[in-house]
Amino acid sequence: MSLSRRALLGIIGGTAAATVVGVPLIHGVRGSSSTGELLPSRRPLPPPFKRPLTVPPVLQPTRTEATADYYDIVQKAAYAEILPDVRTQIWGYNGIFPGPTIVSRSGRRAVITHRNELPVPVVVHLHGGHTPPEHDGYPTDLLYPLNMAGMNHDHMGGAISHGQRDYLYPLQQRAATLWYHDHRMDFTGPSLWHGLAGFHLVGDDDERRLPLPIGDRDIPLMITDRSFDTDGSLLYPSLDPTLLTTPGVKEPYGAGVLGDVILVNGTPWPVADVSAVRYRLRLLNASNARRYKLTLHPAPSGGQSLVQIGTDGGLLDRPIAHDAIEIAPAQRFDIIVDFSRYQSGQEITLRNEFGDGSTTHVMRFRVTGPAPDATHIPEQLSAAAAVLPANTAAITRTLLFRHDDVSGMPGWTINGQPFNPNYDFAQPKLGTTEIWRLITDFHHPIHLHLGHFQVLRRGIGPAGAYDHGWKDTIDLRPAEEAMIIVTFDDYKGRYVFHCHNLEHEDMAMMGNFTTT
Ligand code: C2O
Ligand code: CU
Ligand code: CU
Repeated sequence: MSLSRRALLGIIGGTAAATVVGVPLIHGVRGSSSTGELLPSRRPLPPPFKRPLTVPPVLQPTRTEATADYYDIVQKAAYAEILPDVRTQIWGYNGIFPGPTIVSRSGRRAVITHRNELPVPVVVHLHGGHTPPEHDGYPTDLLYPLNMAGMNHDHMGGAISHGQRDYLYPLQQRAATLWYHDHRMDFTGPSLWHGLAGFHLVGDDDERRLPLPIGDRDIPLMITDRSFDTDGSLLYPSLDPTLLTTPGVKEPYGAGVLGDVILVNGTPWPVADVSAVRYRLRLLNASNARRYKLTLHPAPSGGQSLVQIGTDGGLLDRPIAHDAIEIAPAQRFDIIVDFSRYQSGQEITLRNEFGDGSTTHVMRFRVTGPAPDATHIPEQLSAAAAVLPANTAAITRTLLFRHDDVSGMPGWTINGQPFNPNYDFAQPKLGTTEIWRLITDFHHPIHLHLGHFQVLRRGIGPAGAYDHGWKDTIDLRPAEEAMIIVTFDDYKGRYVFHCHNLEHEDMAMMGNFTTT
């Protein structure tokens, strides 16, 4: 079966058509939105800006030692009140979506015992974590629920456990906004769509010394898009609704599933009361395929309302003031918004300039009134954000991410290869630095496990406005090319890199590298 016309329309989905792969790539070829197809909800959409923003609870350790904190999480189905007057079944870490937030200190080991009470196997990955391979959530290292003890067929050599297992995170890494989510081979898209995602925030002394907003003025915001069925259940076009055997989604959703309801921390278009002071907002795009261009409306006089202080891998060296932030799936932007630039009583909407209709709005802030504020944004944030010189790279590899035929089905490949747990694209020696040149046909947010990278170039130009700092996911647009530089350190073993459009990932756009 070759790519049908319908599928092709789904891929192009209202964005600029991609140019042919292989032609010279020009900086600034911009799809205005996302690669994917809108899945319309089958019930009336809830009204925006009615429900208050909630912040996921911080998970308390079950015990702590001198250098480690221990946590328990049970993965289970539960009901959530996402829409008015109806309950929605979700899959949640401790039964909530987003899952509880884990707060760690850099250098303190976090040990998380996950118990699986879901009707499917799971894999837990700490996204952005610098983690030994056996704890990184390799896609075939399945944790089965206890009641599936007999079901360990065809796991492609993964390390299997039943009932529960521990994930150990050394967290020998900088302060950063990380997140944890499911990573089961072929089924990551529906698992996240059903709720398996949470924040894991790492702090350190460098960050603590800075006069940035803390406490309830430091707010993680997980942005997702979802669609709902007539009965209020989450709608997702899986080929196999049991999510056990056949991977993939129905056409025309093979290029990505886009929802029409925007949730922030699990609430549709919420509203947050804020004082007229500075806030740190930790933006995470946990959507399957949707990209956002976030702006504040109205903009304060003078603009530059979103001051970026950090990204995937932690603080930038210096703050960058933006009028808008483009954020692709899995990326994080830590920003400071100074609400003292607005009047008391004013309502400010966080908009999505890439949206259309219901997806143009994300959430709203309501400025309650003045309050004391001892914070400021220092000119110098972190010295650890210095640039890796390109001449330290031992090798440059070229990787082409494209739509392809995968065993007779439309899918997604890297250099023509569908995901194969037994094939390595690279075998870097520990301590080696490499340049990876990434080329795309459509939008592909490319993510590397283990190592954070820096963006050296985008097309014929320098890194883009949203590429600064240490990244683990780069937002690549149609027919684009970028060079990233990465050092592989500390842990030997097999890791993956992949597209974080989850429908692409599930349909084979993933590869291994093994550090030696
Ligand atoms: Cu956020 Cu390999 O994943
Ligand atoms: Cu990851
Ligand atoms: Cu992709």
